[in-house]
Amino acid sequence: MTGLFITLEGPEGAGKSTNREYLAQRFREHGLDVVLTREPGGTPLAERVRELLLAPADEPMASDTELLLVFAARAQHLAQVIRPALARGAVVLCDRFTDATYAYQGGGRGLSFQRIEQLECFVQGDLRPDLTLIFDLPVEVGLSRAAARGRLDRFEQEGLTFFEAVRSAYLDRAREVPQRYRVLDAGQPLSAVQRDLETLVPEVLERALG
Ligand SMILES: Nc1ncnc2c1ncn2[C@@H]1O[C@H](COP(=O)(O)OP(=O)(O)OP(=O)(O)O)[C@@H](O)[C@H]1O
Ligand SMILES: [Mg+2]
Repeated sequence: MTGLFITLEGPEGAGKSTNREYLAQRFREHGLDVVLTREPGGTPLAERVRELLLAPADEPMASDTELLLVFAARAQHLAQVIRPALARGAVVLCDRFTDATYAYQGGGRGLSFQRIEQLECFVQGDLRPDLTLIFDLPVEVGLSRAAARGRLDRFEQEGLTFFEAVRSAYLDRAREVPQRYRVLDAGQPLSAVQRDLETLVPEVLERALG
C-alpha cells in the first residue's frame, strides 16, 4: 500500500497553511486518511531544527549550514512521519518540502542546484512528491501579508531580490516537470483560490483510492 504525497509550496503569506486545512477537510469528507505536516519540522526534533533555522541570531548562518540543517530535519521527518504515513496508505499534505530547498537555498541563497540534488538523493532515495501545488503571488503581496502577522523570522527579513529569486526558482521547476506541479494564482481572493483547488479534488481522490 502506498499513499499519496502532496506538497504545498510558495512564499510566506501565500496561503499554504490556510489551503492545506481546506484540502484536508475536503479529502476527509471522502473518507481519506489525511496527515497534515510541515517543513522544516514535523517531529519534535525537526521542530527544534526549525527554530534554529528561523530565529534571527547575531552569528551569521553559513549557507551550507542552512542547507544541511534543512536536510537533517527532513531526514528525521521522513523517518518518523512521512514514510510511515505513506506506508499505511495515507494522503500526506506537507507544507513545504524539497522544492522549498531548491527555491530558498538554491534560488535565494545561490547554492548549486546540483549540490541540492545530491542531498535530495541521499536523504530521500527515490521518494518525491506525487503532486506539488505552488501558491504563486507577487513578492510584495506575500511580504505584506507576512509583515501583517508581526515579528519577521530570519527568512522574512530578506529583501525583494531574495524573494524574486525564490519565486523564479519555483516557477522554473514547475515548467521543467509540468506533470508534477500545479501553479495556483494565490494573489486572487481566497474564495477564487479554493475554487481552483476544487478542480484538483477529483484527481486526488482517484489517485488515492484507485
Ligand atoms: N488568497 C488570499 N487572499 C487574502 N488573504 C489571504 C489569502 N490566502 C491567505 N490569506 C491570508 O494571508 C495570511 C497568510 O496565509 P497563510 O498563513 O495560509 O500563508 P502561508 O503560505 O502558510 O505563510 P507562511 O509560509 O508564512 O506560513 C493569513 O492571514 C491568511 O488568512
Ligand atoms: Mg504557513
